[in-house]
Amino acid sequence: MILSRNDKCWCGSGLKYKKCHLDFDKKLETLKNKGCVVPTKDLIKNKEQIEGIRKSAKINNGLLDLVSENIKEGMTTEDIDKLAYDFTIAHGGIPATLNYDGFPKSICTSINDEVCHGIPSKDVVLKNGDIINVDATTMLNGYYSDASRMFTIGKVSDEAKKIVEITKECLNKGIEAIKPWGFLGDIGAAIQEHAEKNGCSVVRDYGGHGVGLQMHEEPFVFHFGTKGTDMILAPGMVFTIEPMINGGSYEIDIDEDNGWTASTVDGSLSAQWEHTVLVTEDGLEIIAK
Ligand code: MF3
Ligand code: CO
Ligand code: CO
Repeated sequence: MILSRNDKCWCGSGLKYKKCHLDFDKKLETLKNKGCVVPTKDLIKNKEQIEGIRKSAKINNGLLDLVSENIKEGMTTEDIDKLAYDFTIAHGGIPATLNYDGFPKSICTSINDEVCHGIPSKDVVLKNGDIINVDATTMLNGYYSDASRMFTIGKVSDEAKKIVEITKECLNKGIEAIKPWGFLGDIGAAIQEHAEKNGCSVVRDYGGHGVGLQMHEEPFVFHFGTKGTDMILAPGMVFTIEPMINGGSYEIDIDEDNGWTASTVDGSLSAQWEHTVLVTEDGLEIIAK
C-alpha cells in the first residue's frame, strides 16, 4: 500500500505520514536500492510500544537489582529463582522464561563453565569463588525486556575476575558500535575484536535478538563478524546484545539430560552480560540492563 503524505503513518502513532515515518522510509528505500539489507516494518517499534517495553524493563531491572543485593555464598539457585518470580509477580509482570519452550524456571542461572540456560535448582549451592550469570526476561502487558548480569561469589580467582570484566567490556564495545543507519555487523565485529585481543573466544551458537513484542524476534544479533555487513540499524529497532565469552575454546555442549544447559567443551570459564537496547535518531538508549 502506498501512503500519501497526509495519511496516518503505518507505525500506528496516529500522526500524519509526512510528520512521522515518511523521511525514514525514503532513507531505507535509498539504502535498499544500494543493496543494503534493511529491517522490515514489523521490527520498528512506535512510541507506545517503546513505552511498554520500558515499563517491562523497569521490573526486569528491579529484579536484577534485587538479586544483586541478595546473592551470596550458601544460597541455592532455586532461592534466586524464587526471589525473581516473587518480585516479578508482585509488580504485575510475568517471568517470560517460565514454561518458555518447556523451560521450567523463571530465570536462567549459569555458573562457571556454564555458558547459558542453566536451570535453577535446590541442589545447586553457590560456593566461594563461583561466577554466575543471572538472566531474566520479563513480560508486562504483552511487552518483553531481557537482561543478564554476572555476579562473583566471595573471593574469586584473577582468571574469573578477568573473564567477567572482559565480557562486560565486550558488551559495552558492542553497544558503542551502534550508530543509527549503521550496520548490525559492526556490533559483532567490535565484540569479537575485544574478546580475541584479550585471549578469549566468542560463543557462536547463540546470539542476541530482537525483543519487545515477543521474547525472541528478528534480527539475530551475531557477537562476531565483519564491520559494514548485515542489517541496517534503523531508529525504532529494539534488540539485545548478550555476548557469551569463553576463557578457552568457543565450543559448547548442551546437557543431554535437561536439554538446555550449555557448557564449555573444554571446561574453561564462561561469562555473559546482556542489555536490551533501542536505536534512536541520534544514538541509542539502554532499556534493560
Ligand atoms: N533470556 C534468554 C535470552 O537472553 C532466553 C532464555 S530462554 C530460556 O535470550 F528458555 F532458556 F529461558
Ligand atoms: Co536473556
Ligand atoms: Co536475550
